[in-house]
Amino acid sequence: MQYPTVFQPCRLGRVTLKNRLAMSQMTMNFATEEGHVTDRLIAYYTERAKGGVGLIFVEGTYFTPEGKGYVRQLGIASEGHVAGLKGLTAAVHGLNNDARIFLQIHHAGGRVSSKVSGMQPVAPSAVPAYPGAEMPRALTRAEIAGLVEAHVAAACRAREAGFDGVDIHCAHGYLVPSFFSPLTNLRTDEYGGDLAGRTRFLTEIVRGIRARLGDFPLTIKISGDEYIEGGLGIPAMIEIAKLAEEAGIDGLIVSAGTPGGQKFEDLSEAHKVMRTLPMMTEPGCLVPIAAEFKKALRVPIVAVGRINTAALAEEILSQGRADIAAIGRALLADPDLPNKALEGRESETRPCIACNEGCYKRILGQLDICCSVNPHLGWEADPAAAKAGTAKRIVVVGAGPAGMVAACAARERGHDVTLIDRGSRVGGQLLLAAVPPGRKDIFLLTDYLAGRLARSGVKVFLNEEISPARILSLRPDAVILATGARPFTFAVPGLAAERALTAWDVLAGRAIGEGPFLVVGAGLVGCETADFLSEAEEKVTLVELLPAIAGDADKDTKAYFDIRFREKGVAVHTGVTLVRVEGPQAVVQRAGQELRIDAQTVVFSVGAKPETGLGEQLAAAGVTVEMAGDCVKPRRIMDSVREGFLAGSRV
Ligand SMILES: Cc1cc2nc3c(=O)[nH]c(=O)nc-3n(C[C@H](O)[C@H](O)[C@H](O)COP(=O)(O)O)c2cc1C
Ligand code: SF4
Repeated sequence: MQYPTVFQPCRLGRVTLKNRLAMSQMTMNFATEEGHVTDRLIAYYTERAKGGVGLIFVEGTYFTPEGKGYVRQLGIASEGHVAGLKGLTAAVHGLNNDARIFLQIHHAGGRVSSKVSGMQPVAPSAVPAYPGAEMPRALTRAEIAGLVEAHVAAACRAREAGFDGVDIHCAHGYLVPSFFSPLTNLRTDEYGGDLAGRTRFLTEIVRGIRARLGDFPLTIKISGDEYIEGGLGIPAMIEIAKLAEEAGIDGLIVSAGTPGGQKFEDLSEAHKVMRTLPMMTEPGCLVPIAAEFKKALRVPIVAVGRINTAALAEEILSQGRADIAAIGRALLADPDLPNKALEGRESETRPCIACNEGCYKRILGQLDICCSVNPHLGWEADPAAAKAGTAKRIVVVGAGPAGMVAACAARERGHDVTLIDRGSRVGGQLLLAAVPPGRKDIFLLTDYLAGRLARSGVKVFLNEEISPARILSLRPDAVILATGARPFTFAVPGLAAERALTAWDVLAGRAIGEGPFLVVGAGLVGCETADFLSEAEEKVTLVELLPAIAGDADKDTKAYFDIRFREKGVAVHTGVTLVRVEGPQAVVQRAGQELRIDAQTVVFSVGAKPETGLGEQLAAAGVTVEMAGDCVKPRRIMDSVREGFLAGSRV
C-alpha cells in the first residue's frame, strides 16, 4: 500500500478510526433557517463518508439562539433538532463502511452578527471580537454557568442523535477562545485573570460533558497560535490544551489564527493573516504548530490546514508530527480523495485550488457553499445525468474550463465528443490565471481536466481554425460553445496602440511591453497582473476607479495583495480615472485633481466581452447550440465549471 500510515487504523478516545484521514469541520449553510437537517445536507455528508474518509467532523452547529453565526447554520439547540440529525448519522452509519461521525458544537460569541441572531452578541467582556465587530454584552456569571450547561446539553443531544463523538469549537475567536485571550477577556472573577481562570469556562464544559456522558468521545479544535499582537502564542495555547487534557478531552485539532490578526510585512508569514489558507500559502503550513502540541500532549493530535493530498498526510503522519490529518476543502473538491489514494488512482483526484471562491467567500456572505472545481457540491442529492438514450455527435468549441467539463460530462454519458480549440494547449483562461505569483495550483485543475479528457475518450483537436464551416464539417448533432470572452480596452487620448496591452496579453506572454507599467483596473485580474509584473522587478502603478482594490476577491486574498504591493513597491491609486497619456506619463484624475504617473506601457484589466458571434451563425445554420462559461457572461471558474457540467448533461 502506498500510504501505510494514512491507512492504518487509530484510536480516538473509545472509537477506532479505520484510517487517519478526517474531514475538517466546514459550515455549509445547507440547513433550514431554523437549523434543521435537509436532504441536501445528508446527501453531502453521505457522499464524503462514501469517499473513504475515516472520520467526519460535522460543521459548527449552534446550540443557543444568541450563538448562531450563520443564517442556515445547522442547529442542535432543542430536542426538535435531534430527529433530523438522527437521519444524518443513520445515513452515514448505514453505509456500513466504518466511517465515524462527530458533531462540532459551536457558539459564535462575539463574532455573531445581530442581523443573523436577532440579538446582541455575548462575550466574556464588552470588547469587540475584532476591529469593526459589533459590541458584545459581557456575560454574567449565571449566564456563563448556563452556557456551560448548554454545551453539555448539546453534547447529550449529539449522543442521542447517534453521533460517535462531539467536538467543541475553541478556535478562530468564537466564544470559548474569547475566554482564553487576554485581549477579549478582561474579567476579574474566576473566569478571567490568569490562564487557568481564562480556561475555566472550557474545563467546566469538558468536565460537565464527562460527568454526564462518561467516555463519550470528545475533542476540541483550537487555534494553536492566535497570531495576534497581545494574543496567545504556542506556549500559552499548549498550557490551555494541557488543562483541557487534564479535564478529559480525547483529542485536539490544531488550527491557527483569530480575526483581526496583525498584518505582516513578510509573505512567508501569509498564513498568519489568512485563516482559510489561500493558494499562495504552502500546503501543510500549519503543521509545525500541530507538531509542537504533539510533543507536549498525550491525546491524539489532529493537524489541519491545506493538507490536500494523501501523500502530504503520509509525510506528516509518518514523521510523527500529528496522529490524524484533517482535510477540509480538498474533500469539498473531491469526496473520493481517500478512496482514490487507497486505490492508487490519485491522479484522478479533482484538486482543490484553494481559491476560496465557492466556499470561504460564500460563507462570509452568508450564502450556501459551492465549489469552483466540483460542480456536484451541494447537488449530491440530484440524480446523476442519465446515460444518453442515443449516442450523438457533440462538438465542443473551446477548451477552457467550461468546454473541458462539458466535453467530459457529455462523453461520460455516452456521446461521441470532439473538443476543438484554436490554442495549442487545453486550459483556456486557466492557463493565464495560473501565471501570477502564488496561483500555480490552478495548473492542478488544468492537469486534472486534461487527464479526465484523455481517460474519457474525448477527441481533442488543438490549433484549429474556429469557423462555422469547420464545425459543420464535423457533422455535429449539437454544439456546445465555450468560446470564452475577449478583454475590453478603451481609447485613451495620447495612448499609441503599441503602448497599450491587455492583462491577458501580458499573462499569456504574448507581449510584455516596456516599463514602467500602468495597470488600469484593480479587480482580481488587475491585481494579479500588477503582482506578476512587479515579481519581474518592473516598476508598476495600479489604478482603480472604485474606492478599493480586489473588490471581487475574498478578504484574505486582498490582504495578500496589500502585503505584496507594499513589499514590491507597487503604487496603488483608487478612486481615479485615466484621462490621457502625455509622452512617458499617464494622467489620472481624482475629484478634479490630476496626478501624473510614469508609464511607458498601459495594461488594461477592465473586464471582458463574451464571444457570441459563432453561436448566432451556427443557430442560423440550424444547429442545436448550448452555451457555457464566459461566452454567456464573463465570470468565475466556478460558473464555467458548473455551466459546462450542465451543458454536457443536457445535450
Ligand atoms: C467554508 C468553510 C467553513 C468552515 N467552517 C468551519 C467550522 O464550522 N468549524 C471549524 O472549526 N472550522 C471551520 N472551517 C475551517 C476548516 O475546518 C479548516 O480548518 C480550514 O478550512 C483549513 O483546512 P483546509 O485547508 O483543509 O480547508 C471552515 C472552512 C471553510 C472553508
Ligand atoms: S471553492 Fe476553491 S477553495 Fe473552496 S473547495 Fe472549491 S476549489 Fe477549494
